[in-house]
Amino acid sequence: MVKQLPEKIAKGSRFVVAVDGPAGAGKGAICRAVATKFGFSYLDTGSIYRGVALLALQNDVTDDEQLGKLAGNMPFEFRFVAGEGFRAFLAGKDVSINLREEQVGKKASLVAAVPQVRSALLTFQRRYGGEKNIILDGRDTGTVVWPDADLKVFLTASLEERAKRRSLELQGKGETVSFHKIRDMMAERDARDESRAHAPLASAKDAHHVDTTLLTLEESIDCVVKLVDKLVGNKPR
Ligand code: DC
Repeated sequence: MVKQLPEKIAKGSRFVVAVDGPAGAGKGAICRAVATKFGFSYLDTGSIYRGVALLALQNDVTDDEQLGKLAGNMPFEFRFVAGEGFRAFLAGKDVSINLREEQVGKKASLVAAVPQVRSALLTFQRRYGGEKNIILDGRDTGTVVWPDADLKVFLTASLEERAKRRSLELQGKGETVSFHKIRDMMAERDARDESRAHAPLASAKDAHHVDTTLLTLEESIDCVVKLVDKLVGNKPR
């Protein structure tokens, strides 16, 4: 059941929750749960970088200007499908599974360092959802995309724990990738995301830090729900 928000938030200006952190910290699962609970729209900003990466791989695009154009004209939609949850569409085709492929993730980290791509996707992210209350997750949503967000959360977990979660997720899909390989790839991606010149992965100064290393998914969701609740003045259920 969707939680009822107080009148001024339900009807007034848009309420924005920005959640950032490295891969595997639990951003996606937590944001989906919070969005569903409060009836917010949700944008997984990583999936739009993955969308550009997928198009770049499919069309063999490597030039920065061309990548920027690809991002600016990307026919991308992220929508809620009954019974399936939030799904990503490129030109009307459900590409949610393709976007999660390891090579697409790796390429996404590379295209995300291209200023032309970031600038094209910034406009997309700010417009996304119109006037609806929104929760979005990524690497720079609280620092660059929505520096004036109502609530900012920085989610972390140890590298070992994040790699463990990713390897369990892959095992669940019947894929076997060695834990060490996953951990090394994650460390490499973290380093690239943190060190790039444009909008690196970073916590906003006013973000609430939540370390999920020792928390179950339910406990992590509960932490963020409590932060939203505190802000909107509702009592947690
Ligand atoms: O969260 P993810 O693994 O789906 O993100 C894929 C890549 O996109 C990741 O390497 C960093 C990049 N990204 C970004 O630079 N800025 C964002 N707001 C979200 C993702």
